[in-house]
Order: sequence, then structure tokens, then C-alpha cells
Amino acid sequence: MKNVVLIGFMGTGKTSTGRLLASRLGRPFIDTDQKIEIENNMTISEMFTVYGEQFFRQKEQEVISKVSRYTCTVIATGGGVVLIPENLARLKSNGVLIALTASLDVILERTSRRNSRPLLDRPDRDAIVAKMLQERSGFYNSADLSIDTSEKTPQQVSDMIITFLRQGGYLRGRC
Ligand code: S3P
Repeated sequence: MKNVVLIGFMGTGKTSTGRLLASRLGRPFIDTDQKIEIENNMTISEMFTVYGEQFFRQKEQEVISKVSRYTCTVIATGGGVVLIPENLARLKSNGVLIALTASLDVILERTSRRNSRPLLDRPDRDAIVAKMLQERSGFYNSADLSIDTSEKTPQQVSDMIITFLRQGGYLRGRC
């Protein structure tokens, strides 16, 4: 069975929904940011500070290449995976792509809770989020299903994903 891959901007609920979805489907869960941190023995913030964003993108690409070879796994990705077309092609070759979206206000609110996102650790955070959201919105369109999570709980979002997977026959096949 194919992987179920969650893509979307920061704060759209990829990790919380992915974890819940995996447990409901009885499938393994991988968060690519967490895998990058474990494999490199440092946080993403540290990686940005010490080596810069390009280094992180390279590590991210390596992890995407690895997890794209998995099967039957729920994969939550970092918001920037879509910036490299090869990442999307790889994830898509062996996975169903689900894009999570949310309104600007909701994203600003959700991303204000933790300070672990180096791209947003700046005084003009609100303006940067608006700009990045606009620049990236087109990239998330290539998904098989798109869900606006602004007013939904991870439980509701995972319900919608499971319905879609069932209807599309994606849950058939061996794992
Ligand atoms: C990033 C999103 C983050 C993380 C890194 C860069 C981005 O992941 O990969 O800070 O470029 O949008 P989340 O989307 O899980 O916050």
C-alpha cells in the first residue's frame, strides 16, 4: 500500500493530524523534520543557525529520498519540501499526497505557540508568513486532496482523510 503524505504550510496541522491518522490506520508515522533532527543530532533551529538553510534543504532532500521508498507509512513533511520539485515527484511516486491548508490568521496564531521555526524567528514574522504563504500556495495544489484545517480538529481532518482513502481504494493492498 502507498504512503499517505501530508504536505502544507507551517501550522496547518501536518504533525498532529499525521500522528493521529497513523494511529487510527495502524500504520507507522514519520515526521521528516524529526527524522532530520535525529539523523543529524541537532535541532532544525541549530542547523539553520550553524549551517544555514541550504544545508537544511539538502538534509531534507536526503530524508525525503529515503522515506519515499517506504510503504504503508503516514509521512508528515516540513512546509518547505514543496520548494524542490524532485521532493514532490519522489513523494508522489509512492504516496497519496494530502495538502493541509489554513487561513493566514490561523497560521499566525498556531505558529506563535512554539519558537522552533527558524524562518519565523524574526520581528516581521506576520509579514513574512503572509509573503511566504502567497509564494508557496501554488506548490500545494499538486496534492490528491486538499483540506482547509482552519476550523477543524485533527480528529475531523483525519476523518476526512480516511473517508477519501477508503473511497479511492487506497487502503486496499497489503502492508
Ligand atoms: C519549514 C517548515 C518547518 C521546518 C523548517 C522549514 C518551511 O516544518 O521544516 O523550519 O520552510 O516551511 P513545519 O512545516 O513542520 O513547521
